[in-house]
Amino acid sequence: MRYDFDKPFDRSRTGMKWMSVPEGTIPMTVADMDFPLMPEVAAAVRAAADRGDFGYQTLRRADYEAVQDWIRRRTGELLPLETLLNTPGVLYTMRCSMYALTKPGDKVVIQTPLHTPSIKSASMMGREPLKNWLLYQNGRYTMDLDHLEACFRAGARVLMMCAPNNPTGRVWTKAEMDAVAELANRYDVYVVSDEIHRDILWDGNRHLSPTSMPTLRDRSVSVISTSKTFNMGGFHIGTAIIPNEKIREKVRDQFYNYGFSCGRPTVIDLDAQTAAYTCGEEWYHQMLSYIEGNFDLALAYLDGLPVTARKPEGTFLLWLDISALGLDNAGMWDLMRNKWRVKGDPGSYYDTADYQTYTGSEHHIRLNLATQRIHVEEAFDRIRRYFA
Ligand SMILES: Cc1ncc(COP(=O)(O)O)c(C=O)c1O
Repeated sequence: MRYDFDKPFDRSRTGMKWMSVPEGTIPMTVADMDFPLMPEVAAAVRAAADRGDFGYQTLRRADYEAVQDWIRRRTGELLPLETLLNTPGVLYTMRCSMYALTKPGDKVVIQTPLHTPSIKSASMMGREPLKNWLLYQNGRYTMDLDHLEACFRAGARVLMMCAPNNPTGRVWTKAEMDAVAELANRYDVYVVSDEIHRDILWDGNRHLSPTSMPTLRDRSVSVISTSKTFNMGGFHIGTAIIPNEKIREKVRDQFYNYGFSCGRPTVIDLDAQTAAYTCGEEWYHQMLSYIEGNFDLALAYLDGLPVTARKPEGTFLLWLDISALGLDNAGMWDLMRNKWRVKGDPGSYYDTADYQTYTGSEHHIRLNLATQRIHVEEAFDRIRRYFA
């Protein structure tokens, strides 16, 4: 079946992204897609409602098998079913995992630039965040392994990863992950990995989860979800992959800390997830090739302009370097609101402020390209015309 990703879809009454801009401005902010729910998932939601059993439910083996098989199709790995925990969401699971693996006041490493709520996780949970800023050289980010070691030496208990990284689009290489593994083992640190974007990969980049590495498997948690892969952020569901039984039990206990209902997905979430993983293969491939077309178009528009970007290795997010414009925060907002009328998320949201390159000016804007082609065309045409 052919899915029509060009089809107009009005999100102005319910979509957070579209509700936050004045008419005429193109929003490229919140990391969801402007495509409607896959029809197969919508049918599963309707079927759950028609079935009408909204009493307490036990998770079915088929729900776990759907996740297991999706992972096998993406990575070739057949994970034992008992290593998969159904969860009500990624951020929630990241925080529960950190909470389970640390004590109040323990040090936790985060690597910025990073998805804003993830930056807040450690301090909100009474842990001490240690920042390991990614190094930015020639338009590309890499992990600062020397500083990571310094954080571990200072007593960090957990490294919170974002893989692929939101907002920079980095997909960590095997060499980088091997270096993390060596340090984590040497300093006895756990690795908790947010892999919500791991199905969105470009140009043959391969995602490597710490839970798949013999050197990290027993000290790691990774969290995946249908949120980004199938544009299902409005559902409350995700899966934690936890190979080590003791860690699994600790994290599972945390899920129910705030009550039974908070720790589980709902009947609807579960049916939606299972439908997406079982019926979503075609939609997924067509979605990827459509969004890749958006990147090609956007990068062609940017060619030769003072604002620059690389195609991300993963994610549907373009991390636009605007440092050549020398704008302060107010200037950047003026540019987006009044000149381009294209709204992205300023780099400062992701804590880019203390870079080695920081000069006191705004230097990046994150633009979400998971939208109809017509919006990408109009947005980047506006940006190009501004510099004409
Ligand atoms: C890296 C990252 N983690 C987590 C989330 C949110 O996940 P959830 O809604 O399942 O908590 C997002 C959403 O943008 C994200 O980009």
